[in-house]
Amino acid sequence: MYTVPKLDDYSPAALDAAVRELLVALDSESKAVSNESDWKNLRDRWMARKSGILTQINDLWLKAAPAPAKREVGQRVNQLKSRVEQIIDAAQGRLKAARPLESQRLDITLPGIRRPIGAEHPVIKALNEIVSVFKAMGYSVSEGPEIETDYYNFEALNFPPNHPARDTQDTLFIAGQQSKPLRDRLLLRTHTSPVQIRTMEKLAPPIRVVIPGKVHRNDAPDASHSPMFHQVEGLAVDTNITFCDLKGTLDHAMKALFGSSVRTRFQPSFFPFTEPSAEVAISCIFCGGKGCRTCKQGGWIELLGCGMVDPNVFEFVRNNGYDPAKVSGFAFGMGADRIALLKYGVDDIQLFFQGDVRFLAQFA
Ligand code: DAH
Repeated sequence: MYTVPKLDDYSPAALDAAVRELLVALDSESKAVSNESDWKNLRDRWMARKSGILTQINDLWLKAAPAPAKREVGQRVNQLKSRVEQIIDAAQGRLKAARPLESQRLDITLPGIRRPIGAEHPVIKALNEIVSVFKAMGYSVSEGPEIETDYYNFEALNFPPNHPARDTQDTLFIAGQQSKPLRDRLLLRTHTSPVQIRTMEKLAPPIRVVIPGKVHRNDAPDASHSPMFHQVEGLAVDTNITFCDLKGTLDHAMKALFGSSVRTRFQPSFFPFTEPSAEVAISCIFCGGKGCRTCKQGGWIELLGCGMVDPNVFEFVRNNGYDPAKVSGFAFGMGADRIALLKYGVDDIQLFFQGDVRFLAQFA
């Protein structure tokens, strides 16, 4: 095997002889290469930065040369470098050319790249189902901002400043707004009801609209509470809309969502923006109303709030055709997450928001 000799004769003839000897050696080493690992050894032996033969030549020939010979030696060392690279490249080329099939080997039995198909999130699925039940009754769909002003979220819904009904809807306010009038301050909306006002500002009666969306409240998370959740709001305004229309609409919607054997129960309640207001419960879908753990033995599951639009609310949009002496309407709001929990038999609302694929994949 070739080893780099020390030079003591720096005449051009002696240098040429040393170069020739080196190239002859490299030539025969490169011809002996018969596979990829031989070739790598060859490459490292000659070209490794730290102690390859080219590096040794740099040290033993060029650095050691006396000043007057440096030019001659330098030229040859430079030429050698590119020559050596060429020869080693050529050796690799020969290897590949000799095995065209090997270098293009393709294992068609390897598994392909799997691209898993996403699934609709269960809450979105529930939102869509609820919305489509109302679409089938001729409702249109609308949306509104999640960052809302105090005016739309509270004031125009007949929650006056400091009214105790605001307490149940504590939320996050956007910071640094103390200099603004209360009604202009921004907050994360606590319900989808503000979109009732936004819709009535845009569209004159008659209207029938459902509004799905995300809402926020200062609620500690547990199995049935989340500080962020989803609602579907509904609003119908026309002449001569009565509580009967409200009852019939919601009774039908609950049957469409939970099955035709489900019954509904309306109980008096309070919301500032409806009068009268009611809380709607459905007969327990797990025990049929006999009483079980889910309905806490009561046979009923409370599901949504509703009522007849309060005339005070119409006053805020009177100019757009909502004269409370001429029109009437009903509104309702339901929690989509709660409906998803019931429909899909999930026992902890937190599962919806943890993003665990093992959970979500079950809805694919
Ligand atoms: N916005 C109410 C809440 O989040 C729910 C609600 C009750 C909406 C009655 C309505 C309604 O439209 O009429 O608690």
